[in-house]
Amino acid sequence: MKNELQKLKAEALLAVKSIKDKAGLEELENKLLGRKNGELTNLLKGLKDLNEEAKKEVGQLANEVKREIESALADKKKELTQAGMSALLEKESVDISQPSLPKKMQGHFHPNTLIQNDLEDFFTSMGFMVLDGPELESDYYNFTAVNIPKDHPARDSHDTFYIKGHPDWVMRTHTSSVQVRAMQKYGAPLRMVAGGKCFRNEATDVRHEHTFYQLEGVVVDKDINFAHMKGVLEAVFKHVFGLETKMRLRPKFYPFVEPGVNGEVTCFLCKGNGCRLCKNTGWLEVFGAGMIHPNVLKEGGIDPKVYQGFAFGFGLTRLAMLKYGIEDIRLLESGNMKFLEQF
Ligand code: FA5
Repeated sequence: MKNELQKLKAEALLAVKSIKDKAGLEELENKLLGRKNGELTNLLKGLKDLNEEAKKEVGQLANEVKREIESALADKKKELTQAGMSALLEKESVDISQPSLPKKMQGHFHPNTLIQNDLEDFFTSMGFMVLDGPELESDYYNFTAVNIPKDHPARDSHDTFYIKGHPDWVMRTHTSSVQVRAMQKYGAPLRMVAGGKCFRNEATDVRHEHTFYQLEGVVVDKDINFAHMKGVLEAVFKHVFGLETKMRLRPKFYPFVEPGVNGEVTCFLCKGNGCRLCKNTGWLEVFGAGMIHPNVLKEGGIDPKVYQGFAFGFGLTRLAMLKYGIEDIRLLESGNMKFLEQF
């Protein structure tokens, strides 16, 4: 029996060495020392047939063998636990020496959005609400409500994109479509701006896009006059371009205002000397404005005998061009990363 015990110990120690994981170790422990059918337990069942002296000797040896096997099993368990921990640490560790994401991969605002956000903040500081309106608009709000009835020649300069099967829907041609929506919803007095995308069926060039941004503004109150409008517009240009930029107003017909003006600022490219961007005039047209036509106020549910107001529509895309020195408007909608990464 002594030999069998030595053999069991040698085989057990070898087996423990070759174990690779905790489940295998548990299985081996059971196989060697299990109370019911463990190999050592089975072997010791023969003790009862030995005489007293042999029983003592073999019993002592059996205890030693058991202790050694238990100690080998415990060492192995420790070894496997440590290996598991370091594998886990390796998997979850953070490499603090790794450089951060290149700037290129971080998102940033489009120049149109930058100028829109800037102006919305500026108008908010003057007590204006910031509103929004749908890009796919009804013919009514885009044209009829702002005094451009069906067959009015002013519709010619606002040719746009239409939706098949929906003759009364248009991709809005200007943010003036929000004017009557705002009046109907909020009434008078009213001070609001609404910016966003507009669409026109344009033959595109350096200054004209089929998709561009505008920012509409409406002020309605008692005793509002043209000087208020000019004051607000001048404040905007001083804010965006600094004190040196000049603005000029010239009469222009818009069916929804009376009188109407178009507003120009000095061309950034030639500083007013004349170039291809400004068609050699030295000025760039950036907005339309005027005193709101009584028909529009009426359409918005406001009594024109009690209230007056002014409205303006900035070409936000043109403002972005001026602010950032962009020479061709088509770059803004191009999705060209080389261009966009500069902002
Ligand atoms: C309008 O769109 C009027 N709704 C503006 C207005 C509002 C007038 C309220 C009076 C009262 P206009 O078509 O002129 O007007 O456009 C206004 C500005 O939008 C222009 O000065 C220009 O800066 C910009 N714009 C117009 N068409 C384009 C285009 N195709 N590409 C880029 N910018 C454009």
